[in-house]
Amino acid sequence: MDKKALENLLHDMSLEEKVMQLVQIPGSEYEADAEITGIERGQVKDDVKRLVGSTLGVWGSKSLKRIQEQYIKEHPHHIPLMFMLDVIHGHKTVFPCPLGQGATFDPEAVKKGAEVQAKEASADGVHATFSPMADLCRDARWGRIMESTGEDKLLNSRMAAAMVEGYQGDDLKDRNHIAACVKHFAAYGAGEGGRDYNNTELSEHTLREHYLRAYDEAIKKNPVMVMTSFNTINGIPATGNKFLMKKILRDEYGFKGVLISDWAAVGEMINHGFAEDQRDAALKAMEAGVDIDMCSGCYSGHLVELVKSGAVSEAAVDEAVLRVLNMKNDLGLFEDPFRGIDTETGAVVTAESRSLARKVAAESLVLLENKNKALPLKNGKTAFIGPFANTKRLQSSWAFSGEDENTVTVYEAAQEVYESDKIKVSEGSTIMDQDAVTARGKCHVDNWEEENEKLLKEAVEAAKWADTIVLCIGEDSTQTGEATSKASLKLADVQLNLLNEIKKTGKKLITLIFTGRPLELKEVAEVSDAMLVCWLPGTEGGHAVMDVLSGKVSPSGRVPASFPYTVGQEPLHYDIYPTGRPKPENGPSEYSSRYLDCENYALYPFGYGLSYTTFEFGDVKLSADKMTAKDKITVSAKIKNSGDVKGEVTPQLYIRDVAGSRVRPVRELLDFKRITLEPGAEEEVSFEINEEQLRFWTAEEKWASEPGKFFVWIANSSRDGKPAEFLLQM
Ligand code: BGC
Repeated sequence: MDKKALENLLHDMSLEEKVMQLVQIPGSEYEADAEITGIERGQVKDDVKRLVGSTLGVWGSKSLKRIQEQYIKEHPHHIPLMFMLDVIHGHKTVFPCPLGQGATFDPEAVKKGAEVQAKEASADGVHATFSPMADLCRDARWGRIMESTGEDKLLNSRMAAAMVEGYQGDDLKDRNHIAACVKHFAAYGAGEGGRDYNNTELSEHTLREHYLRAYDEAIKKNPVMVMTSFNTINGIPATGNKFLMKKILRDEYGFKGVLISDWAAVGEMINHGFAEDQRDAALKAMEAGVDIDMCSGCYSGHLVELVKSGAVSEAAVDEAVLRVLNMKNDLGLFEDPFRGIDTETGAVVTAESRSLARKVAAESLVLLENKNKALPLKNGKTAFIGPFANTKRLQSSWAFSGEDENTVTVYEAAQEVYESDKIKVSEGSTIMDQDAVTARGKCHVDNWEEENEKLLKEAVEAAKWADTIVLCIGEDSTQTGEATSKASLKLADVQLNLLNEIKKTGKKLITLIFTGRPLELKEVAEVSDAMLVCWLPGTEGGHAVMDVLSGKVSPSGRVPASFPYTVGQEPLHYDIYPTGRPKPENGPSEYSSRYLDCENYALYPFGYGLSYTTFEFGDVKLSADKMTAKDKITVSAKIKNSGDVKGEVTPQLYIRDVAGSRVRPVRELLDFKRITLEPGAEEEVSFEINEEQLRFWTAEEKWASEPGKFFVWIANSSRDGKPAEFLLQM
């Protein structure tokens, strides 16, 4: 449809019809047998259902085709309904959870993964995904850290941008692509105390320099939608925040797409104490420029009256509706309301999608410890023990459209690699302690104690039989994601008990950690010969794990979010501001900024990760020791594979602006790349630095660089390497 035709359509619509384009309701309202995300049915009135612009949480080609047919028939202008779904790290083929994807430091692979997800979701009738989540997260207590790609603004920017590109492709009308939604704008990851839905207090410079960066970079890739966040920022809920939505998102970033609220976030402004009632909430959301009200009922209940009373202008409604109609048009829905739907098979997992998922998952695994080259596994008898050894639940609670039966477990994959008389499996324990709390309530298992006693006994037998134990432990997938904040980052007692009992057998112990968040792993590391973080690795998780354990693939994942010594260090991140009394690395540290009982920094810092080989980083060389705003400096270093197997390494370019009109972080990631080196091979890696990369939000409240001295590293982690220095001159 051309622009004129769209405007004519808008002109022809009644006020009620227009308002309803701005309303989103759960898809379960339309059809009982559609697959749903667990939302109660039956709350929405029929006249709303008949007119709303979009729905969420349903998928399945046959169901969605039926819903669409019926809907278009009944709609006065036959405008198609839009179907949106949280396709977060996979639709049918499930990739590692986003934090795992962050650990790959491989945006290209992540983009390809998003392409697969878009293709599959489209075949199942989905038009838009609520992804990527570009929230910066420095606090492992927040359960949604699993949905972020980590603590670093540059890494998150690259990943979020790659996901938008992958989902949307070059042309939205292409049936293999769907609309992306950058969320949750903004700073949802900065909730106080790591508690979900909580308030945030952020200075403008920290907000702009750190928290907003990844949304900004992702928005540059033209996502169709942006979603507001649940939190307040400096006292104002994001969903009613004009500074964020109008000044920053629309005026500064030039975002022209659809702004959707998070689930019920318009109505939650009442709970926040920002709106008096639903009408007031609808008014405030409209004033902030929220186009679609996701499931709060505020727009459907009050927006018509707000326009009639003159509180909201009809022009403002028209503007928002036009954006929604444009989105439908860009997706090609007016020409083909069934775009992409494959009613023959729907979405399916293919050999190709599996192979990509396997590669991404293998790249996401982070080797944290490898004492005396305990890994890769040697020949001998191996017992796979623990609740994650043979489970198909290797995906997060957000991958609800992915089916467990497609998942390859660790033990299933091990059977493809080893003779059956060389391996054994034993569950060892339950994942959770009795009455552990998840987002969905308490988890109570009848006969829990007897069951665990039996499992432990069997596991100890298997451990005694084996030469090597691969202990597969971690956090249940219902304990990360939304509404899963935790004040403890320890593994369940029942699993720690299993670890200790197994350790007593004296066998070589390889510990695999399945998790959606950084955990406290010091004690686990102490008793393990090797420790590998596997995240929630998805459909091909088992194969990916065995590729690494067997040595077929050398591990190359990097820590995307700091693993603390103890939860008391949270929030924890590497790019901190310096203090007036920095703790000396060596020597007396009394009256310095430190903890009496713990290190300041992480046990496993951002960017860290071992390989089966070793890499030597040469001195950092600069093409010049001075630069101006007009030129660039090339920074390079030689990197040598000094071990005896092929491996991938991720040299990371860090910078420190030594003094500024506002203090600058002790280090900031400026760039990175992955390179593969054969044993003995050496390569010079180089990066360019230009003036724009040195800008920050200065004391004059603007983006600028300032002349002066800079340190620069090419390092193997955020705590590694020796810097060179250069001057920026104006
Ligand atoms: C979450 C969003 C999600 C939305 C729709 C909300 O509870 O915060 O991330 O996209 O639900 O499912």
